Amino acid sequence: MADRRSWFFFFTVCAVCASGGNAEFKFTVPVGKLFSYELMRETFQSDFEPLSKLYATNLYDDPIIFKCKLQNFPDLPEWLRFTQRHPFDNGFLYGTPMVPGQSIIEVWAVNKQSYQTTRQLFVIKAVDEKILPYQAEFFIKLREIEKVLPPAVQSEIKADLQRLWGTEALEIVNMTNALDRGGRVPLPLAGHFEGVYVKVGSERNFSPCLLSVLSPEHSRQCSGADRGARVKAPGGCNFCNIPSNCISWCKTELFDLSNPKPAPPAPTLGSGILEDGGDFDPPESPPSRDYFPDYVVTVIVPLIIAIVLSVLLAYVMFCRREGVPKRNAKTNQFQLFHHHTIHDDTEGLRHMASDRTGPPPLSALPMFNYRTGERRAPLQSDNIPLILAQHEPHSDSMPR
Ligand SMILES: *[C@@H]1O[C@H](CO)[C@@H](O)[C@H](O)[C@H]1NC(C)=O
Repeated sequence: MADRRSWFFFFTVCAVCASGGNAEFKFTVPVGKLFSYELMRETFQSDFEPLSKLYATNLYDDPIIFKCKLQNFPDLPEWLRFTQRHPFDNGFLYGTPMVPGQSIIEVWAVNKQSYQTTRQLFVIKAVDEKILPYQAEFFIKLREIEKVLPPAVQSEIKADLQRLWGTEALEIVNMTNALDRGGRVPLPLAGHFEGVYVKVGSERNFSPCLLSVLSPEHSRQCSGADRGARVKAPGGCNFCNIPSNCISWCKTELFDLSNPKPAPPAPTLGSGILEDGGDFDPPESPPSRDYFPDYVVTVIVPLIIAIVLSVLLAYVMFCRREGVPKRNAKTNQFQLFHHHTIHDDTEGLRHMASDRTGPPPLSALPMFNYRTGERRAPLQSDNIPLILAQHEPHSDSMPR
């Protein structure tokens, strides 16, 4: 049957030329169909440990990470993406080429145990192919991109969608991590997944089940963020066998590309000279505005507040201070006397420092009784020790 025309394209691995340990794989991919390839850790592991095959007991399982890029370029081509969840998981190259052409992809594997590296080359040739006219995108909530890329899971999902579409002639066009489309990182709990968008295309028109997505009833049911999640597919349209492959009915979108929009007409070219538009008419100046309220609010009010605060501060500093007489009255008489003695003596010494010709203050005199003011006769010697030592019989060693 013409409708049953085979849409099955196999990625043809044409040659594996091992030159200097660098394997090269060739793929032919039709434009507009999903390409996916699993980078197996075991194959790279055997590149690291060529001898381990000889000793079957000694199987290595090192963490390996992959670095993928277009040859001679820093990054992958726009259409190709790479994902690897963990160094102990396989990596995936996937994407949908939209223009024909050949890309040479360099895959470097780094052994995180020994830091050995090895390289493989992938030559991916995208060949021209008609874009499938009817496409639809589905959201699978309970999946993650690495879990749907293995071919077995892809065919499970495809089988469900084939029954929903009512045709075998169905191809997977794209698979996208929901995080790449603005989804949220799920909580690290069981039962929370990132979600995957799967886009499929067919030559056949949409089935009645799919067309019900366009009905007003569908949009009514699905409006409201919380209700949308619980809406089930209409009766007879629920085809998912494996719960984790079930689609979120409200996030289904149809793309009818069978009537491509006519390209917009080419712009008509003018002479290249602008027409004369008359004289320049400057716009009216805007109405004048009263700035006084703004001035009051921004200048006067803060100024008044500042003045009030400084007056308050001045009052507290100058009028509310405890005076010296008040403090003196509170102080114990003996302590006050002691304090005055120190104070007067300090004054006397200061006075002496500035004027050495005047009479020495009383306190500077030896043997002055501060209570009575009585003076002893000064000693004849001017060699007066500051501390009068007790007379000791063996004081010969003391300096004189
Ligand atoms: C596939 O999905 C990615 C990510 O959303 C997008 O950038 C790309 O254009 C899609 N390709 C096709 C052919 O729809």
